[in-house]
Amino acid sequence: MGATEELEYDESMISLLEAVWGEGFMSPGGTDEVDRVLDNKDLSEARVLDIGCGIGGAAVHIALTRQPSSITGIDIEENLVDRAMDLAERNNVSAICDFQRVEPGPLPFEPGSFDIVFSKDSIIHIVDKFGLANDVYQLLSPGGWFLASDWLCGYEGEPSVQMQAYIDAEGLDFGLAAPEVYQKAFKAAGFVDIELEERNTWYRTQARVERDNLAGPLYDELLGQVGEEFLIREIDVWDKMIVVLDSGEHRPTLLRARRKT
Ligand SMILES: C[S@@+](CC[C@H](N)C(=O)[O-])C[C@H]1O[C@@H](n2cnc3c(N)ncnc32)[C@H](O)[C@@H]1O
Repeated sequence: MGATEELEYDESMISLLEAVWGEGFMSPGGTDEVDRVLDNKDLSEARVLDIGCGIGGAAVHIALTRQPSSITGIDIEENLVDRAMDLAERNNVSAICDFQRVEPGPLPFEPGSFDIVFSKDSIIHIVDKFGLANDVYQLLSPGGWFLASDWLCGYEGEPSVQMQAYIDAEGLDFGLAAPEVYQKAFKAAGFVDIELEERNTWYRTQARVERDNLAGPLYDELLGQVGEEFLIREIDVWDKMIVVLDSGEHRPTLLRARRKT
């Protein structure tokens, strides 16, 4: 992203997301949800890649709790990888963490460079799921796991009026895909042991808590940082999101798949 292009995740957005989701997080569920994504997989001594690392909360949690040999976070926005590095330094894990800004597109690493590829609610921004699955498969060592969470959609084809209203309100360049698309993309790439775990039931409830926090206890705290217009717009995004979580069109999902040994 060039310096003149508008940042999708600017300072106001980051402040609001961290207030709702916790320090270092730009996606729901905090460290508990990261642990759920990772399941019982052994990451000790693993070389880990975090696609769309944002401001580093997940990567730092993995570094602190899973004994990887290294964790490389990549993101397309420079301001985010700078913050991620700062978080790693403050948590004394910078020796095993590396955060890099990358261009959108093919992932710039040699085949077999990682034992675990992780991603938390970021591959929604990557439209070509078949290309992504192929890239991740190539980057993994034999037997390595792709462990991710993403926001999927419960339809193929056109979104409903309510879903389109939510997408427009978010204003992010969403590349939503249905579970079947991910299944096909993973299979086509050669992955085995493919698992999809729906998180809609959890997030429907959680999103209401977040919305009420934003309109309640967090409102005054955030007012000075992000301004009233921004806050009101974001509460409206949550309202629109709750509608499509309820309808099942917005489908947060955990994705796990293994490269053949
Ligand atoms: C919703 S945030 C999640 C960030 C982080 N994973 C977390 O859970 O806090 C999505 C992230 O994906 C990044 N992103 C968007 N397109 C990307 C791409 N093509 N490659 C890597 N990261 C990308 C964004 O800049 C943003 O940091």
